[in-house]
Amino acid sequence: MNKKLHDNVAVVTGAAKGIGLAIAERLARDGAKLVIADLDAGGLKEAASRLKTEYGAEVASCAGDLAEQSIAEKTINLAGEAFGRLDILVNNAGGGIIKPFSEHSPETLRTTIDRNLWTVLWCSWYAVPKMRAQRYGRIVNLGADSVRNGLWDHAAYNAAKGGVHGLTTGMAREFAADGITINTVAPCAVNTPQMVAITKSDPALAAKFVSVIPMGRPAEMEEVASMVSYLASAEASFVTGQVISVNGGSTML
Ligand SMILES: NC(=O)c1ccc[n+]([C@@H]2O[C@H](COP(=O)([O-])OP(=O)(O)OC[C@H]3O[C@@H](n4cnc5c(N)ncnc54)[C@H](O)[C@@H]3O)[C@@H](O)[C@H]2O)c1
Repeated sequence: MNKKLHDNVAVVTGAAKGIGLAIAERLARDGAKLVIADLDAGGLKEAASRLKTEYGAEVASCAGDLAEQSIAEKTINLAGEAFGRLDILVNNAGGGIIKPFSEHSPETLRTTIDRNLWTVLWCSWYAVPKMRAQRYGRIVNLGADSVRNGLWDHAAYNAAKGGVHGLTTGMAREFAADGITINTVAPCAVNTPQMVAITKSDPALAAKFVSVIPMGRPAEMEEVASMVSYLASAEASFVTGQVISVNGGSTML
């Protein structure tokens, strides 16, 4: 029997490590061919080699800053050049500079928006015409549950991720009749290598993040990847314009 994403071509951004790598691994297990992209050229090389050896995936990669229009264009075009089509775009590249709003500098504010919003805007902008031409596409963004619960020190990050949530609903409506669905997965704290390090170096901070989660633990990266995998599949054909939290109950509804 064919795997769920057999013959699908997926671009996963920010796939050198963390949740992005877990998503790339999950989509590879589901049978997708992958274009992976990241700022971190060395990490990307290691990720590509892991995806090929562990999962037998066909992988192409593109290193660079996806907040730059030309890099986003190159990354999206690579799907067609390497594999002939583009079915899935997972806009995962991002990450917070978590600090009180008043302690941000002009640079950290700009980087927060570049990293979390411009990456999504440019990659989506280049992906949509290709998906429209095929009359099929799945765009899955990584948002944040902190937009919903207004987590402390997250104002600037939430401004960027709130932009992603807003882009989701607007794009979903605009392209609903083109066979393209656009959804966002919004995690709470996730047990990434970074979170594991915080748990060791600052257990009180880690406990503070977990204190808002009724299940009493961070999400596992695979739990986030599982939701992405569903939304990226043909099976999720009537789900669009949704922000779906994977959050152990930290916000409800
Ligand atoms: N970790 C969490 O608890 C958590 C919670 C909610 C949402 N998220 C979101 O999930 C996504 C993944 O988070 P993570 O914890 O794995 O992050 P991470 O920092 O471990 O990995 C993010 C990857 O994206 C890449 N990246 C960042 N900016 C880029 C750019 N401009 N161009 C290309 N690549 C870029 C980085 O190099 C890195 O490899 C992010 O969008 C993050 O905001 C994470």
